[in-house]
Amino acid sequence: MKKNVLLSLVVLFALALAACAPAAAAEEAAPAAEEAAPAAEEAAPAEEGGTIKIANLSPLTGPVPTFGASTKNGFEMAVEEWNAKGGVIGKTIEPIVEDSQCTADPAVNAANKVIDQDGVHYIVGEVCSSASIPVSEIAEEKQVVQISPTSTNATVTLNLDGSTKKYVFRACFIDPFQGLVMAKFASDQGYKKAFVMLDQGNDYVRGLAEVFAEKFVEYGGEIVGQESYTGTDTDFSAILTKVKDSGAEVLYLPDYYNVVNLVAAQAKQLGVPAAMMGGDGWDSADLDTAAVDGYYFSNHYSPQDTRPIVVDWVAKYKAKFGSEPDALATLAYDATNLLLASIEAAGVDDPTAVAAAMEAISYEAVSGTVTFDAQHNPIKSAVVLQVKDGAVNFVASVAP
Ligand code: PHE
Repeated sequence: MKKNVLLSLVVLFALALAACAPAAAAEEAAPAAEEAAPAAEEAAPAEEGGTIKIANLSPLTGPVPTFGASTKNGFEMAVEEWNAKGGVIGKTIEPIVEDSQCTADPAVNAANKVIDQDGVHYIVGEVCSSASIPVSEIAEEKQVVQISPTSTNATVTLNLDGSTKKYVFRACFIDPFQGLVMAKFASDQGYKKAFVMLDQGNDYVRGLAEVFAEKFVEYGGEIVGQESYTGTDTDFSAILTKVKDSGAEVLYLPDYYNVVNLVAAQAKQLGVPAAMMGGDGWDSADLDTAAVDGYYFSNHYSPQDTRPIVVDWVAKYKAKFGSEPDALATLAYDATNLLLASIEAAGVDDPTAVAAAMEAISYEAVSGTVTFDAQHNPIKSAVVLQVKDGAVNFVASVAP
C-alpha cells in the first residue's frame, strides 16, 4: 500500500514537473519521473518505501574496458527488471556505477566512495580478482555485502587465516577448478608438453597458471618452461622464442584479452608452433579471434547453451544491447539477481541479515543454479570454448 502511495507521489511529481515545463518534449517526462523518486523518498519514512542503493564497481576504463561495459549492462538490466516489478522489499533500487579499472587503487577508492559518501550497503563487483581482493577487505571491515560476479581467484572470499569473509561472496566458480578443467582438457587433447606464461603481479593470472601447471603434471604432462612478464610489457618476443625452442605443444596463457591479443599476434609472427589455451579472461568482443583461431579457453557459460533460461536471457539481452551477452554480462546479471533475491529473502535492508540470507539461498541463475559452499563459492560447471573462424563455439561442459 505504501508502495502505491509512493508511486502516486512519483507520478504526481512527474506530472507537476511536466506541467511546469510545457515546452518539454514528451520523452523528457520519463527522466523527470526517475528524478522524482529520490524526492518522493524524502517524504516517506526511511523504513517504508524509499530507495535502496546498490553499487556496481566495473572496469569501464583501463586495460579491459569490454569487461566493464558488459558487466554494467548485466547489472543495470537486473536492476531495471526488479524495479519494473516494484523494487526489492518495497524499495526502489538506485543503481550507482563506479569505474574501478580492474586495478586495486581505483577499485579501493570507488569502494570507499560508495560506502562512505553514498551510504551503500551492497556492492556488485569488481570483475578482476586483483581489484576484488582489496575491495573485499574493505567490505568485510565495513560490513558491506560484496558479491563479485566474476573474480575467480580463490582468496577473494577468504581471510588470511583461511576463514571465510562473512560479507563477501561471488557468483562464479574458482580458479582451482578452472585450472583443473583446462589441464585435463589439454591432456585429453593428447598434449604432453606445455609452456606456461604468467604475470606474477596479477592475482588471477598467477593463481590460474599455478593450478594449471600443477594439474597438467598430475595428468601425466610435462611443463617444459615457465616465464613471467609484467602487466605493462608489450614485447613478448624473448619469451616466445623460448616457447618455440622448448618444443611445447601447448602454451597456456591465462591472462586477459588485451595481453592475449599481443602475445598471440607475436607468436604467429615468430612462427611459434604451440597451440594456445587460456581461461575466462579471454572472453571479450575485442579478442583477436584471427590470432587465436582454433584455440581453446575455459569460461562460465556459453550463449549457445540451449537451456530455456539461457535462450530467454540471450534473446532479451540482444534485443536491448544488440549483441550477445558474454560471460561478464551474464554473471553480472546473475550476481545482481542473487543479491536482490537475498535482500528480498532477508526482508530488511541490513547487510548482516542479507549475508546470512545469501548463505542459505538456492537460486536458479542463467549460468547455473547457485548454492554457496562454506567459503561462499557457488558450485558450478565450467565450459570449454573454441575460437573458430571469428566465432566462439561451445565444446564441452565440465561439472566439478
Ligand atoms: N576471472 C577473472 C578474474 O578473476 C575475471 C574475468 C571473468 C574476466 C570472466 C573475463 C571473464 O580476474
